[in-house]
Amino acid sequence: MSLPGSLYGLSRRSLLGSALALGACQPAAQSQTPTISLPPLKSIAPFPVGTAVQAVHLTDPSLARLIAAQASQLTPEWEMKMEYIVRDDGTFRFEAPDAIAAFARDNGLGLFGHTLVWYAQTSPAFERLDEGRVSFAQAYRNYIHAVVGRYRGQAVGWDVVNEAVAEDGEGWRDSLWSQRLGAFEHMVLAFQNAREADPTAKLFLNDYNLEWIPKKRATFLRLVERLLAAGAPIDGVGTQTHVAADQAPGEIARTIAELGQFGLQVHVSEFDVSLSRAQGLRLNRAELERQQAALYGEAAEAFMALPPRQRFAFSFWGLRDSESWLKREDASDTPLPFDDQGRAKAAAAAWAARVG
Ligand code: XIL
Repeated sequence: MSLPGSLYGLSRRSLLGSALALGACQPAAQSQTPTISLPPLKSIAPFPVGTAVQAVHLTDPSLARLIAAQASQLTPEWEMKMEYIVRDDGTFRFEAPDAIAAFARDNGLGLFGHTLVWYAQTSPAFERLDEGRVSFAQAYRNYIHAVVGRYRGQAVGWDVVNEAVAEDGEGWRDSLWSQRLGAFEHMVLAFQNAREADPTAKLFLNDYNLEWIPKKRATFLRLVERLLAAGAPIDGVGTQTHVAADQAPGEIARTIAELGQFGLQVHVSEFDVSLSRAQGLRLNRAELERQQAALYGEAAEAFMALPPRQRFAFSFWGLRDSESWLKREDASDTPLPFDDQGRAKAAAAAWAARVG
């Protein structure tokens, strides 16, 4: 394994990653979920089933077993992002993503890289770059080549650019990357550098709320067209699909269908259905769970309606409710296909019924 390197190019220092104080898994809450017996999701679906994962999850034997049994592809939830990899001095650390990559390899699972360029994540090392030593563009290239190159031949794909479209759909987001390298050019450069670093990986543009804000979806689609016209090596489009139980029926299906129009790979990349965020509904929990199951079914049915060659993967943003990122917003939320004890929920059954 090559030295992890830095924004300034390959580092000659041996880089000892700091031990990470990884959060402990949350205690499983009592679940009211009736027992539902399902075959493993990846054995039912005629496409890869992904899940987000953190390195700490792999040290929990019951969760590690659930992940290995149910998923065929892993997306590091945060440890393959710049905030983890790039230290303040510009050197890189890879302990956690390497642990996730090793688990994927040891269990025959695919690895999906998330994410290279995101408006939400810069690093003091980029912000304070010593441009007497390296240009910003070269540091950007060094970063993408170091990260993508490290998993060359293992990663099945990458979210190259994440959340580029403005939330109201009025153009694209402003970021350190757009300011320093150009609003559109930084995206083309990211795709070109990623392709050079690993010609085998599928390269994606990923975004969220495409089913919630039609104008944002339209702007996303126009950006895809522009990237294609510019010859950017884009292979696929990702719709995160973080939705709530009050999501209007049909919009998830419409989004997936519209994303399929270019003939590119389509990735439902971060699927979860929040009950707590469903403020628009005055429903009791059982009614919210019925809405949730209906949306799980809609997403599965719409994904199945894509031509098989365009079904890249359907990835949940976690498998067990207890690990959901949404728990930090509301500890009572239950957005995922399995309950805190790892038992399949009605939503999982509704999803399975439409992919099998
Ligand atoms: C979230 C993770 O789930 C959290 O653990 C982390 O603290 C912040 O990022 N869209 C994305 C993901 O593309 O990277 C985000 O993941 C969720 C929203």
